[in-house]
Amino acid sequence: MKLDSMLSGMPVKARVKVEAAVDNLSVVLQMRNPRVLTSMAPSAMRGLVLKQGKNGSSVQMKSDHPVQFDFDYKMDFPEMRRLYQRAVENQWNADKDLPWETDVDPVNPEVPIISNDFMTPEALRSLPVKLTEQQRYDLNYHIACWMLSQFMHGEQGALYASAQVTESVGWMEGKLFGGSQVMDEARHLEVFCRYLTDKLGKRYEINDNLFVILDDLLTDARWDFKFLGMQIMVEGLALGAFRTIHNMSEEPLLKQMLKYVIRDEARHVHYGVLALKKHFTDSLSEVERREREDWAFEVAVLMRNRFMAHEIFEEWFEGTISRQAWNQLISTSPAMLQFRRNMFCRLIPNLDFIGLMSDRIRPHYARFGMLDYLQGKNASQLTEGEMMADLH
Ligand SMILES: [Fe+2]
Ligand SMILES: [Fe+2]
Repeated sequence: MKLDSMLSGMPVKARVKVEAAVDNLSVVLQMRNPRVLTSMAPSAMRGLVLKQGKNGSSVQMKSDHPVQFDFDYKMDFPEMRRLYQRAVENQWNADKDLPWETDVDPVNPEVPIISNDFMTPEALRSLPVKLTEQQRYDLNYHIACWMLSQFMHGEQGALYASAQVTESVGWMEGKLFGGSQVMDEARHLEVFCRYLTDKLGKRYEINDNLFVILDDLLTDARWDFKFLGMQIMVEGLALGAFRTIHNMSEEPLLKQMLKYVIRDEARHVHYGVLALKKHFTDSLSEVERREREDWAFEVAVLMRNRFMAHEIFEEWFEGTISRQAWNQLISTSPAMLQFRRNMFCRLIPNLDFIGLMSDRIRPHYARFGMLDYLQGKNASQLTEGEMMADLH
């Protein structure tokens, strides 16, 4: 029996609860690899069941990673050193370099924060609820607030992950670069928070699935898992999302802000691929490499399938349309398709470059159409100019 017909006789309140539980459960059941499932289970419990990202004003995450104190001060990783120098040269001042005096009207359709590619007129027409024009602008505004809130939460996670990695990474140049990244992430947190507070006036709680990924990598004691999770996967996700929103927005302050942030993030991904390629090639056994390969695949699928703006659904449409129908609507919207393309065209070549795209795992990626991106340039080959040329 299909879920829809099973639920149809239930009162609305009970039905939405069951739908949410089944939806969350499906995240876990979709994971094919038992080792990855076991390693992610505590974070999934905290995020999806206990909803720790949504209860209370803060949460404690415990990490047992070792701090590697270095007495050699050896500098023998010139490419990473150059990256550090570039990071120092390209620092910017969020307060002075951005036009904060810009007057932002979040519901002005002439200057959309994000275009209506997220919820197209056709998609809106397919809903049983009919929205007025004003409500449509309002919905768009809420979606923008939701997206930018997730960026802000992600940046907070990046701040802590980069601090942890700075402590535990082995190369001295890696520690220096890590210090510059901590500053970058603090600035990113600052600008998203300021934009949401001063210009949009609404903030959303962290998405449960984003919480699970951040909790998992912040609590894992192994530095290279943190590194893979943050520098390659989450930064790859962020770059894809920032680029999509940048190109969908007409609002000048947001566009300028995202441009600065993207330039920083591109360096972070570059740092990630340099460090991990070296580490995976020099120091890992095949079993350990395979474990990372499986983990990266599951996280890639999670990132592809699980950012469905359920917080917006719950606020606007719960009880009117099913969660399944919403998932379908969002996952096929032009903005989401664009986001996936933007994310995977960078992520897949990076995973290949660091050695996590063996013949064993490729068919799994192929199932999701993700192998099509394999021929693209990885972060070590892309110049800053090429990265910026994508923005319009
Ligand atoms: Fe960042
Ligand atoms: Fe970053």
